[in-house]
Amino acid sequence: MAVRWVAGFVLVCFTGAFLTCTSVMGQLSPDYYADTCPDLESVVKSIVDSAVDNETRLAASILRLHFHDCFVGGCDASLLLDDTDTFTGEQQALPNRNSVRGFEVINNIKSALEDIEGCSGIVSCADILTVAARDSVVKAGGPSWTVELGRYDSLTANQSLANTNLPSPFSDVPGIIAKFVNVGLNETDVVALSGAHTFGKAQCGSFSRRLFNFQNTGAPDPTLAPDYLAILQGRCPQGGNGSVLNDLDQGTPTTFDNSYYNNLLINKGLLISDQELESASDSTIEGLVTSFASDQSQFFAQFVLSMLKMSAIAPKSSSEGEIRTDCRFVNSGQDLVASM
Ligand code: HEM
Ligand SMILES: *[C@@H]1O[C@H](CO)[C@@H](O)[C@H](O)[C@H]1NC(C)=O
Ligand SMILES: *[C@@H]1O[C@H](CO)[C@@H](O)[C@H](O)[C@H]1NC(C)=O
Ligand SMILES: *[C@@H]1O[C@H](CO)[C@@H](O)[C@H](O)[C@H]1NC(C)=O
Ligand SMILES: *[C@@H]1O[C@H](CO)[C@@H](O)[C@H](O)[C@H]1NC(C)=O
Repeated sequence: MAVRWVAGFVLVCFTGAFLTCTSVMGQLSPDYYADTCPDLESVVKSIVDSAVDNETRLAASILRLHFHDCFVGGCDASLLLDDTDTFTGEQQALPNRNSVRGFEVINNIKSALEDIEGCSGIVSCADILTVAARDSVVKAGGPSWTVELGRYDSLTANQSLANTNLPSPFSDVPGIIAKFVNVGLNETDVVALSGAHTFGKAQCGSFSRRLFNFQNTGAPDPTLAPDYLAILQGRCPQGGNGSVLNDLDQGTPTTFDNSYYNNLLINKGLLISDQELESASDSTIEGLVTSFASDQSQFFAQFVLSMLKMSAIAPKSSSEGEIRTDCRFVNSGQDLVASM
């Protein structure tokens, strides 16, 4: 049975010195922990800030963790569950294996919160990841927004759903759009959220098929700028190490800005799924790419709206989930159900 989540909710936005948006939807609210764990946001921010100060890439890695959590059964920390002898989670699914990272930051935040009276046993791992993703964007120079809280953590995970629901970097635009529509997002969200590829890194294996024999043509992907192609061929030679890392945004690799879209306009998108946004001749999508490239504030405003939508995919209620004490395991061993 195909399950469809509709992120149906109303957004109320006030534009001023800051863009403030409130999503009015069921159980989520910005002040969910105001009485129980008022220190939540300051604890998350300080641990994210120090982790990123030590290793810049972690900002990108944490944002991606949130995306890969939300697209698979909703934002419920299912991705954070470790495999055990009796449990198979999502971390070894193809889009995640040897690729998603930053788990230790979320686990450290959880254990810090468990040591605080009031917060112990109260704050979900799904909410921690949502706040940490926002703080990671801010830390890298991107926009800030008010995060909605009140998600419960999943009781299980689903590896095959992770393989099914997450978009492939080899996909064309209709394929990418379909994965977003499947979770209640739309074309505008595809373009705005793809802007996350303005920071972080990708392995050669995620794009090397573009470099030498693209689609069995015997030639590179013609949508790659020649000077960029030469750099990438040098970093990712044929038969070379597919795990070598490359900046997703060559220009400003650690800054959250709109340079991703300017890269697309000059044929310097790294992944096939990136460059396709400009090269696929979809006028709605190209129009958004052009607007975001020329106006960073327009990108930031739409990125915030689209993040609020993504973070609101299928939040679990108290009857559907629990508050984990350790993000890596469900609370009771008896709840373990391997889903393959
Ligand atoms: C549009 C469809 C998308 C595809 C096909 C895609 C695919 C990928 C791939 C293949 C990588 C590199 C993985 C590796 O080589 O190990 C990557 C990295 C990344 N993705 Fe996406 N992605 C998409 C959308 C998103 C969205 C919606 C977000 C967040 C809002 C996001 C955030 C990131 C970040 C920040 C990185 C770098 C992570 C790091 O350095 O650890 N991506 N993505
Ligand atoms: C800092 O980052 C390095 C990897 O870049 C890691 O090995 C080390 O454990 C980190 N230190 C702290 C305190 O997080
Ligand atoms: C896991 O996801 C698959 C779709 O890939 C679905 O068919 C299956 O029912 C799910 N398993 C559970 C236990 O929800
Ligand atoms: C996408 O959804 C938003 C509301 O969430 C809406 O404002 C926008 O017009 C939609 N875009 C497209 C291309 O359907
Ligand atoms: C491949 O590259 C990765 C990342 O740079 C490195 O950790 C690994 O040791 C390399 N593997 C080989 C066989 O050289």
